[in-house]
Amino acid sequence: MAEHGSGDRSSREPLDGGPAERAKAALRARLLDARRALTPPQRAQAAEKLCGHVLQWARDQRSGPACAYLPIGAEPGSVALLDGLRAAGRPVLLPVVPARPGPLDWAPYRGPGSLGPGPLGLREPTTARLGPDALRTAALVLVPALAADRAGHRLGRGGGYYDRTLGAAAAGTPLLALLHDGELIDDVPVDVHDRPVTGVAMPTPGIVVTGNNARG
Ligand SMILES: Nc1ncnc2c1ncn2[C@@H]1O[C@H](COP(=O)(O)OP(=O)(O)OP(=O)(O)O)[C@@H](O)[C@H]1O
Ligand SMILES: [Mg+2]
Repeated sequence: MAEHGSGDRSSREPLDGGPAERAKAALRARLLDARRALTPPQRAQAAEKLCGHVLQWARDQRSGPACAYLPIGAEPGSVALLDGLRAAGRPVLLPVVPARPGPLDWAPYRGPGSLGPGPLGLREPTTARLGPDALRTAALVLVPALAADRAGHRLGRGGGYYDRTLGAAAAGTPLLALLHDGELIDDVPVDVHDRPVTGVAMPTPGIVVTGNNARG
């Protein structure tokens, strides 16, 4: 693993709301611009490489459901990854955004035919909702992110949904943020409510364990 250098926030106090929020907003804008600039072939190639890394990594994790997500736009991940997890014998659960701010609900993914239109023009599972506690059954969790750092601090899209959700995972459950190359950065601004991830997956280096979770 590379030197942490100035990027290691593990010994630093989280920022309080104001400064962290402003720093996050600026970082999100820059990262979303970079994602928008990715061409369709670049996105497809990144998704294919990421899928290979994550499926190989998942083979070494304990059996049980994967909580994952359906990527939108240039978000890392793919339906092929969801299908690959299922083909490997793992049930896949997808998040359903609650009507009011709170933890994510979960519903089984049973292939592309189990998806239907959701709010904001997004697709979501049409299967029965299992409730937020379904996360406790997960053997691994794939988390969307715009960036993360080597301490495991994660930048999401700003809804706070995963910060309200990840605490319900069973202790020791791997929480893997899916990133594009270049999105593992030195310093993710961190707030007191932010939940860290235990690793990241990127197309080129593959899996990188973050924070104090280094078990290879
Ligand atoms: N556990 C929590 N309880 C109450 N509010 C929270 C909690 N976690 C996050 N929030 C609120 O959510 C807002 C967005 O948080 P943040 O900017 O960290 O989102 P994010 O991590 O980018 O989003 P997401 O988790 O959806 O990917 C914050 O203003 C914060 O007040
Ligand atoms: Mg957060």
